[in-house]
Amino acid sequence: MLILGIETSCDETAVALVEAKNSKLRVVKNLVSSQVKTHSPFGGVVPNLAAREHIKNLIPLLEKLLNDTKTRSEDISLIAATQGPGLIPALLIGANAAKALAYAWKKPLVGIHHIEGHIYANFVGVNPKSKIQNPKQAETKFPILALIVSGGHTQLIFMKKHLDYKIIGETLDDAAGEAFDKVAKILGLGYPGGPIISELAEKYLKTSRKARLSTPDKQVVGISQSRIFKLPRPMINSKNLNFSFSGLKTAALYTVRDNPEILKNKKHLQALCREFQQAVIDVLISKTIQAAKKYKPKTILLGGGVSANQELRKQLGEAIKTKIQNTRCQIPDTKYSLDNAAMIGAAGYFRYTLTRNKKTFYDNWKNLEADASLKL
Ligand code: KG4
Ligand code: ZN
Repeated sequence: MLILGIETSCDETAVALVEAKNSKLRVVKNLVSSQVKTHSPFGGVVPNLAAREHIKNLIPLLEKLLNDTKTRSEDISLIAATQGPGLIPALLIGANAAKALAYAWKKPLVGIHHIEGHIYANFVGVNPKSKIQNPKQAETKFPILALIVSGGHTQLIFMKKHLDYKIIGETLDDAAGEAFDKVAKILGLGYPGGPIISELAEKYLKTSRKARLSTPDKQVVGISQSRIFKLPRPMINSKNLNFSFSGLKTAALYTVRDNPEILKNKKHLQALCREFQQAVIDVLISKTIQAAKKYKPKTILLGGGVSANQELRKQLGEAIKTKIQNTRCQIPDTKYSLDNAAMIGAAGYFRYTLTRNKKTFYDNWKNLEADASLKL
């Protein structure tokens, strides 16, 4: 079974072909056309510009996907497209292209929730060395606890079975990725903020490690003790599983206001990036461990653009290993952490095969509606 995935909810135009064979998923090809250069002068995504770029790029990208893989419309069994949430002008382009294809090719069409896609990225892209699903993945055991961290969402989701979502915690204000983007803006680092902040944080960590190695007889000074700047870990001690990142962003803003030299001092800039990144990571990990202790999942999944962050990946894996027994941590390859259409195809496969009455999918070319605030 070959599934065509289409994703246009924000600033990436993405198409992919996912093959399902013996209930295993394999990404045949995954194409993403990024609009970062278009939006970065504006310091964020401009919805109508995103839509214009999707219109320009989607059909050529689809043509390339089909040509490169020598796929004909007859080979495709299912179309899966992001239905929401996201920017409505952007969502409409992908959803309507999918509807037109479903009508013309007489294929079933499945609308996918973007966050559902980020969860199911873990069912196509975990083993970085092989595009073929890691056999161990077939054992991805329920119940699952998913931590989804993107530009628009920060959620802890508990799943007893496929397609069954219970949001057990979420951000009360900014999403984690949004905080990275806003702090990068405050620091004059451009858009998107996540990759540049993590790069500068990594430079700081490397310099600190080197400095410690070059002073072996001195007492080892833990990085946390040598923090130049201190930022809060919002809600880390609260009893519930919710998050809040807007105060952290404001704390970063005040730190810059009170120490304007940060913007000109490379080391200080790197130190603030590292401290901000670690504050986000500390809260994300602490809440995930808290949730795991309460809900006792067999698998913990990470997903969404912020999960491309190497320190988060590393530290979450270590925390789960040391603090939670008998729980597997699963993280997608970074290209499936960021927005892509393979994850939409994967979610589409499960939604289609696990739904008994498939008629609605054949009617979807007339019924499917993009929804900017679609609920999971
Ligand atoms: O999932 P995604 O690609 O799009 C949305 O669904 O929002 O996530 C984008 C977010 C942006 O806020 C971006 O700054 C963040 O993911 N991001 C990162 C990293 N790479 C991307 N955040 C932290 N570290 C990264 N390496
Ligand atoms: Zn996303």
